[in-house]
Amino acid sequence: MLLVNTKKMLEDARKNKYAIGGFNIHNLETLKAVVKAAYDMRAPLILQTTPGTINHAGEDYIAAMARVASEKYDIPIALHLDHGNSFELVMRCIKAGYTSVMIDGSMLPYEENIALTKKVVEVAHAAGVTVEAELGNVVGVEDDLYVKEDINALTDPKMAADFVEKTGIDSLAIAIGTAHGMYKGEVKLDFERLREIANLVDIPLVLHGASGVPDELVKKAIELGICKLNIATELKMSFANAIKEVFKNNPAESDPRKFLAPGEKKIEEVVKEKIKLFGCGGRA
Ligand code: 13P
Repeated sequence: MLLVNTKKMLEDARKNKYAIGGFNIHNLETLKAVVKAAYDMRAPLILQTTPGTINHAGEDYIAAMARVASEKYDIPIALHLDHGNSFELVMRCIKAGYTSVMIDGSMLPYEENIALTKKVVEVAHAAGVTVEAELGNVVGVEDDLYVKEDINALTDPKMAADFVEKTGIDSLAIAIGTAHGMYKGEVKLDFERLREIANLVDIPLVLHGASGVPDELVKKAIELGICKLNIATELKMSFANAIKEVFKNNPAESDPRKFLAPGEKKIEEVVKEKIKLFGCGGRA
């Protein structure tokens, strides 16, 4: 199957009250692990990479790997640019074969966020590529993106409705209290705000910073209208911890196939748990 955009999968998730995982991958092993888990669970999948990962691996290599995965396994797979930080990068990704992009203008003044997002929507839609944008700020660290805790501007529901109408985006990432990275204290989500946004906005809603959010809160967020959850940190940590364990037991190991395989296996396990939690298993 060819790579798909996120339109159909997110609309179906919205209609049937489940969520799709937006899983951040970094290399061949992490991509293979995520795809294998989704295939085994028959789950539609969004593979995503940040600008940092694109700097590391190259959008052409990433798109080629995703295409191979998509041809190999008959589940819908979208390749998504996560936190796209410029119009130019969006263009490069679309050219390389990404089927979905996020343009993150959330740190810009409101009108500038609208203008940039609108420009991206115009070109992306002409290429059949779906667009996610963000309003409000998810605090914490995501690659080169650092949003200070005290910025913590949660999404304003009326502004969200206005933003969606003016930009024509396909999905909206909102800030209701999640953070990128692992949480230090108790996770508190503003469900009243989510409820209000879901009432006013007629497109799928996305929650970033889903690593470390307790299962009960994730379920509630999905029930109230979240259709995509982004997971990066939990995958990175499980990959790294499994590899550290190899070297702890065998410091002389030098075969990448041997020290990377346990990391791959661990990611597969974590992704399967998330798919179960999100309710998207069996939907592909
Ligand atoms: P976590 O690193 O908290 O999982 O967040 C991932 C994310 O939101 C990617 O955009």
